[in-house]
Amino acid sequence: MKKIAVLTSGGDAPGMNATVRAVVRTAIFNGIEAYGIFQGYKGMLEGKIKKLECGDVGNIINRGGTFLGSARFPEFANPDVRKGAIQNLKNLGIDGLVVVGGDGSYRGAMALSREMDIKTIGIPGTIDNDICGTDFTIGFDTALNTIIDAIDKIRDTASSHERVFVIEVMGRNAGDLALVAGIAGGSESIIIPEKKESLEDVISRVRQAEARGKKHSIIILAEGVMSAPELSEMIKKDYGINVKYAILGHIQRGGTPSAMDRLLASRLGNYAVQLLIAGESGRAVGIQNNRLVSSRFEDVFEDEHTVDLDMYEVSKQLSI
Ligand code: F6P
Repeated sequence: MKKIAVLTSGGDAPGMNATVRAVVRTAIFNGIEAYGIFQGYKGMLEGKIKKLECGDVGNIINRGGTFLGSARFPEFANPDVRKGAIQNLKNLGIDGLVVVGGDGSYRGAMALSREMDIKTIGIPGTIDNDICGTDFTIGFDTALNTIIDAIDKIRDTASSHERVFVIEVMGRNAGDLALVAGIAGGSESIIIPEKKESLEDVISRVRQAEARGKKHSIIILAEGVMSAPELSEMIKKDYGINVKYAILGHIQRGGTPSAMDRLLASRLGNYAVQLLIAGESGRAVGIQNNRLVSSRFEDVFEDEHTVDLDMYEVSKQLSI
């Protein structure tokens, strides 16, 4: 292994910079040249690749976003598009690739690992926490802290005005962000794609809280179920409750990465390079029970991501 390139792809996540820093510095520590690919797979195709030194990744461990830039690039599903991108890596003599991203980025990485003799490792970077083979993805913890901060602020005003609020959080088709933020934020109800619950039950908890003198109700809604305006309209129409809503949106993707995300990024970035040095390819790294692990991309896709439904039960018992 002489030259390793790293890219960040898909939706950005706090901690991606710390990941790139770890990959670059581990490579250089081990006598390997490091290259950054700018704007994800799009930049790989367009040849936006630059050699990086230790100093190039200085002062970024604390920064949100990704200094390499990122892109959604569905065209990469086309093998002919990938051919051009692979050629760009070959021209530079790159023999190892680290892809930091979510589900779509892993699919690109898996295809590449089958089509080229450049060894490829994936690192889970997404706020959604929806990747199998790891307990946590990089960015999840920071996004949770952002959501909790928003819930606390909304609770203040909801309480003053005795209002019911629906707060819509990201997560694509996964309910992880909603479930954990709902528990940690002390919400009355959590609505996630993985657990069907009737609106009747949701409203009965709101009424219960009201009956014991609670001045506000917070309903956390995962975007994968429906939108906050839709839910609010249903509640108004069917129950005559005039709810307010807030869509947290891309605020959840930005901001200074938390200590947990910086640590996870540093450990996984280092581990990914160790695997490349050991000759591994076609694998994604992760953390399970605080141990670093790796799984074949195929196995990551075969498993179905689920939330911990015991936690859902906890949320119900605590919101009586
Ligand atoms: O995958 C991360 C994520 O933030 C999802 O939670 C959300 O559904 C999606 O990306 C938004 O994507 P975009 O920034 O392309 O609108």
